[in-house]
Amino acid sequence: MLEDKFGRRFHYLRLSITDVCNFRCDYCLPDGYACDSDRNFLSVSEIQTLVKGFAALGTSKVRITGGEPSLRKDLAEIIKNCANTPGIEHVAMTTNGYKLESNIQTWVDAGLDSLNVSIDSLDPRMFQSITGHDSLDSILTGIDKALALGVKVKVNVVLMKQYNAAEFSQFLNWVKSTPISLRFIELMQTGDNLTFFQENHVSGLPFKEQLLESGWSQLIRSKTAGPAQEFYHPDSEGRIGLIMPYSKDFCGTCNRLRVSAIGKLHLCLFAEQGLDIRASLQSADSIELQKQLSSLLSDKEATHWLQDGYTGGTKHLAMLGG
Ligand code: 5AD
Ligand code: SF4
Repeated sequence: MLEDKFGRRFHYLRLSITDVCNFRCDYCLPDGYACDSDRNFLSVSEIQTLVKGFAALGTSKVRITGGEPSLRKDLAEIIKNCANTPGIEHVAMTTNGYKLESNIQTWVDAGLDSLNVSIDSLDPRMFQSITGHDSLDSILTGIDKALALGVKVKVNVVLMKQYNAAEFSQFLNWVKSTPISLRFIELMQTGDNLTFFQENHVSGLPFKEQLLESGWSQLIRSKTAGPAQEFYHPDSEGRIGLIMPYSKDFCGTCNRLRVSAIGKLHLCLFAEQGLDIRASLQSADSIELQKQLSSLLSDKEATHWLQDGYTGGTKHLAMLGG
């Protein structure tokens, strides 16, 4: 089992398969994707070696992320490979939803069992203004399709003062009749978004108060739960989650490691740099990879330093899929 010196266990791998994205979310890629990075992304066989190595060290869940993972033509093959790796019990994906409506059946056939979709506004015009795409309706239809296929769906909403903070009750209304887990995420500062961050960051705490005052109760966290504090309501089919990376002890429950689309291990979303593990992937050497992972993990730090405005090497989250 991968375990660090603080006793945190890592059974969850977040694997970015591309940093390309077709959306232009204001907090992430406001000017769109810039084609100036190394685009020699991990191949299917490198991914196979990677996932096999992680699985041998106790990883049971892989989340495929981007950029936007559905922009890769071999996505279904990647999902299938992850799902067929002995030890991997869950294959999830985070998507902007652009191809959800048309492709969800193919992804499910390949072995996908859960999905995170970003929806920062339920108002089509606001949605378009944030992302640069008029695709809210299609994404909502895609979510219904995914639910009908038995896929577990989480929706991510990044809280932004000037854009969607006033939509809180619309989101709660939607969740009432929709069996999803909707998670409000506090906007995080990255290397590229300082001004936007300063203008739009709001704490999740007042929203938590509002939930508790209107009949929502907090769920007890399971040992393997992610970073969200989760809430349920007897009259609501869906749940609400709050992800507050600026709150005390946020990193204490960290259970994930990240690998970028070019084969670098990131011990934290806000680490200074990624650690190169590509050579063992290229030589398909799963044993060497396992040795390398166990040794690199000893450098994992107790926490990020976001509260001090330190964002490490992370210019925007399209680099690593959040
Ligand atoms: N702060 C918070 N969340 C972010 N995401 C992307 N950039 C940021 C940021 N700066 C979210 C996306 C997506 C998830 C992968 O991360 O909206 O839902
Ligand atoms: Fe938006 Fe995600 Fe694309 Fe960034 S990577 S622009 S957050 S859809």
